Amino acid sequence: MGEVMQDKYLDAVIVGRRHLTDRISEFLIGAANGVALPLAEAGSHVEMRFGGAQGRFLRHYSVVGPLSPDQPSEPFWRIAVQREDRARGSAFIHDNLIVGSQVRVSRPLNAFRLSRHRPHHLLVAGGIGITPIFAMARSLLTRHENFSAFYAGMDRAAMAYADELEALCGNRLTLHESRTAGLPDLDRLLAAQPQGTQAYVCGPPAMIDALVAAAARRGWDPARIRFEVFNAAHKPEDTAFDVKLKDGATIPVGAGTTILDALEAAGLETFADCRRGECGLCTTDVIGCDGVLDHRDHFFSDADHEAGRQVTICCSRITGRVLELDI
Ligand code: FES
Repeated sequence: MGEVMQDKYLDAVIVGRRHLTDRISEFLIGAANGVALPLAEAGSHVEMRFGGAQGRFLRHYSVVGPLSPDQPSEPFWRIAVQREDRARGSAFIHDNLIVGSQVRVSRPLNAFRLSRHRPHHLLVAGGIGITPIFAMARSLLTRHENFSAFYAGMDRAAMAYADELEALCGNRLTLHESRTAGLPDLDRLLAAQPQGTQAYVCGPPAMIDALVAAAARRGWDPARIRFEVFNAAHKPEDTAFDVKLKDGATIPVGAGTTILDALEAAGLETFADCRRGECGLCTTDVIGCDGVLDHRDHFFSDADHEAGRQVTICCSRITGRVLELDI
């Protein structure tokens, strides 16, 4: 990679942009100095800074990589961005980034790795969660490992890379269109897997929760399900707790859900943008906690975390049973 990656962030430029679905566009990120970027390991993501000279937005995007196994590498990093109604960063990308736009990107980081030497791998993607899963499918195929893939979305037109994934996986792939087929039967999906299968899931928190719960019901070791949501707010050891509101109402927060998602699901009005603990927009005062606050943001200082007076509800949580918030 040479000199371009000595800093955490590399000066980069958008070298391609393509419409994938009504809400998802693909962007190709190249080094500004023209050096070819290395192939990112399957499951890895890059941090991207954009939005003017100060880079006022910082977001994480999984690197999809080449769309065909015949193409061992490509000189840029391919990402896909879904426009979210409530997030300014994704709207900025869709409205402003064109070929030639300058951004800064980190080297690829991988917190969602494929295991080696498992008898079988199950890849499960929901919606835009296809981005790391696609890279994993290509990698498993290249490594001649046994796998099957399950990709769920509202309908085919809304599912990015459906054609390419089908071409890649053939009959290993099941495409599930929820608009006509309803919610996927994840119990049935797991029941059909060979003994010792390692599963990987990326998608909406509700889907991850459902798969983790289905695996627990079937007696799977929790380590056999790896998951990634886009805000890195989730860890396999997370536990459920309750949020108590000022009016006395109690909102349950599941192990694979954020406080923010739980409050929104309960119909409460909230403020949020990045949903990754970066912008501070979701900051909320803490009234009480019967356990320990688990801060996962990059917005507050260590001293702020220590004081424990506020939390970023998009990603932080508690180890304990009840968190009382000033909402
Ligand atoms: S939404 Fe940005 S820190 Fe929570």
